[in-house]
Amino acid sequence: MSILVTGGAGFIGGNFVLDWLAASDEKVINLDKLTYAGNLDTLRSLEGNPNHVFVRGDIGDRALVGRLLEEHQPRAIINFAAESHVDRSIHGPGDFIQTNIVGTFNLLESARAYWQALTGEAKSDFRFLHVSTDEVYGTLSKDDAPFSETNPYEPNSPYSASKAASDHLVRAWHHTYGLPVLTTNCSNNYGPYHFPEKLIPLVILNALAGKPLPVYGDGQQIRDWLYVKDHCSAIRRVLAAGRLGETYNVGGWNEKANLDVVHSICRILDELKPKADGTGYASQITFVQDRPGHDRRYAIDARKLEKELGWKPAETFETGIRKTVAWYLEHTDWVENVTSGSYQTWIETQYGQ
Ligand code: NAD
Ligand code: TYD
Repeated sequence: MSILVTGGAGFIGGNFVLDWLAASDEKVINLDKLTYAGNLDTLRSLEGNPNHVFVRGDIGDRALVGRLLEEHQPRAIINFAAESHVDRSIHGPGDFIQTNIVGTFNLLESARAYWQALTGEAKSDFRFLHVSTDEVYGTLSKDDAPFSETNPYEPNSPYSASKAASDHLVRAWHHTYGLPVLTTNCSNNYGPYHFPEKLIPLVILNALAGKPLPVYGDGQQIRDWLYVKDHCSAIRRVLAAGRLGETYNVGGWNEKANLDVVHSICRILDELKPKADGTGYASQITFVQDRPGHDRRYAIDARKLEKELGWKPAETFETGIRKTVAWYLEHTDWVENVTSGSYQTWIETQYGQ
């Protein structure tokens, strides 16, 4: 038995592959294009592991995906591959349309051709699990109820619009062709191997480098943070027992304003790695120009997943953020590798002015 994971050299996909192979003998075929966000360093501990087959390639390459499906006969495809950064989608939406929409379409077509040719249990047990985001639901006001699976889609950024489109394609491939799909919509993740263009790793690394900690606008935007290992356990649970064609919201009931997140990181760093000059890291906080179209609040109602499938997150924000800061302090090699090259160009483009 095997599974095909796409985007398994990225942040969440990488954590998923590592967790899967730590707990199971089932082979993982890991298809990743290795864009700027894909890092084989994340998967270094799997070198020589015969249960990990890494293939560099695009989810939109039907010939390649068709070959992989024929050769390995996976019982599931778990689609993490995407362009995932809102700020990059504002600077250049084209790649988001190409991978998140056209790429998902091609992957669905490859999956459909493969699944339709299966027979018996192989056919009835096959699953296509699409990993998506809460950002498809748009933004909430302070007093709105958290997003549930029945909220209308109201995406506001090129990123969220492209993910919304991909979710609709996945849904349609189920209703029209019967493809056995599952979709998960998750809130903001954080944890090990998070590429430092996103808020939490960026703040940790800038703090340690003595650089400004850029807070967009007033810093009162709210995100609902989920430790990445909890997201991975939710995906495993949905894959094992989710109802076909259903969507499941995944969240940790951890709503925090951005400024509070930044202060939490500063406090932990003050304790674990105090600055030589005796000042606190919070003195580096700098308010910068807000993101255009910045969603004010995301919050997830994860009761469906909890009630139907018995999933619960293991970490609170307080335990998860402490583990995360400690991980970055202990993994300076990984950080050095991912922050060379094109990363510098991005930082200059986004924060240069
Ligand atoms: P990421 O940007 O860290 O990783 C994406 C991976 O996909 C990279 O390894 C990249 O090389 C690969 N990739 C990109 N285009 C590809 C293509 N055309 N073919 C094959 N591989 C390709 O993203 P992430 O944070 O790990 O997110 C994974 C998934 O989870 C995405 O679909 C994202 O929308 C979703 N998601 C992310 C979060 C979050 O907080 N990071 C929250 C909810 C949902
Ligand atoms: P991010 O990690 O980019 O995730 P998303 O946009 O998908 O929620 O950003 C999280 C929040 O932090 C978001 O409200 C934007 C804000 N932010 C900053 O204030 N400063 C930064 O430098 C970054 C990257 C994000």
